[in-house]
Amino acid sequence: MFAPTPDKLRYEGKAKQIYATDDPALIVMHYKDDATAFNGVKKAQIADKGVINCRLSTYFMEMMAKAGIPSAFIEQIGPRDQLCHVVEIIPVEVVVRNVVAGSLAKRLGVPEGGRLARPLVEHFYKSDALNDPQINEDGAILMGYAAGWELAAMREYSLRVNDALRTFWDGLGVDLVDFKLEFGRQNGRVVLADEISPDGSRLWERATGRKLDKDVFRRDLGDLSETYRELYQRVFGESLGG
Ligand code: TMP
Ligand code: ASP
Repeated sequence: MFAPTPDKLRYEGKAKQIYATDDPALIVMHYKDDATAFNGVKKAQIADKGVINCRLSTYFMEMMAKAGIPSAFIEQIGPRDQLCHVVEIIPVEVVVRNVVAGSLAKRLGVPEGGRLARPLVEHFYKSDALNDPQINEDGAILMGYAAGWELAAMREYSLRVNDALRTFWDGLGVDLVDFKLEFGRQNGRVVLADEISPDGSRLWERATGRKLDKDVFRRDLGDLSETYRELYQRVFGESLGG
């Protein structure tokens, strides 16, 4: 049984920790209750967020495996812990958008809520120091952040993730507005990495437009812990711990 002890801690991010295991090719990803926004400027502890996001991300990574999309995820080994392959994170985040919202609305000075005719794929350079600036595929190639074939695989996988997730959320009466993915290199191939969770997605209840994602925290719209519990109940048909 793996226990996340301080001597094994290898990296601490804003919402997760990475622990070494006895096998150098494997790590444990540990989900914390910490929430941050605006690149760490706003911070809070959200009760049970780590447990909820860990289980949701497990569910979605397993869904993607069935859809033929490889990921670093192997299995969930504790309420907040996932066993994963070691990957080299590609420093290019991929955002897929179905509806105009967030930084796209702000950048172009348009209202949120407009449905896009087809999914829009955007790229951001993963750099806390620079606040994740937008970059295009040519820029990412020429700056040496990712190879052309890697970006092509990332785009294809991202669109396939979008198809699978959109169908899933549709069935629960929720619109998948947008989401962010990260990818890594493992054994010479590109795999999905990090997490798929409401921390990195926008989810709007179709009937009411109510936000069911981390924007509740970013924009002070209510209690994020309550929102995430509700989402958990919708997805798993049972309340957390019940
Ligand atoms: P954006 O509209 O702020 O660019 O966000 C697009 C999507 O990416 C949204 O679903 C939230 C997610 N996201 C992250 O996961 N991490 C981040 O640091 C940011 C800014 C957005
Ligand atoms: N993840 C980023 C942060 O911590 C931004 C965000 O999700 O809004 O601050």
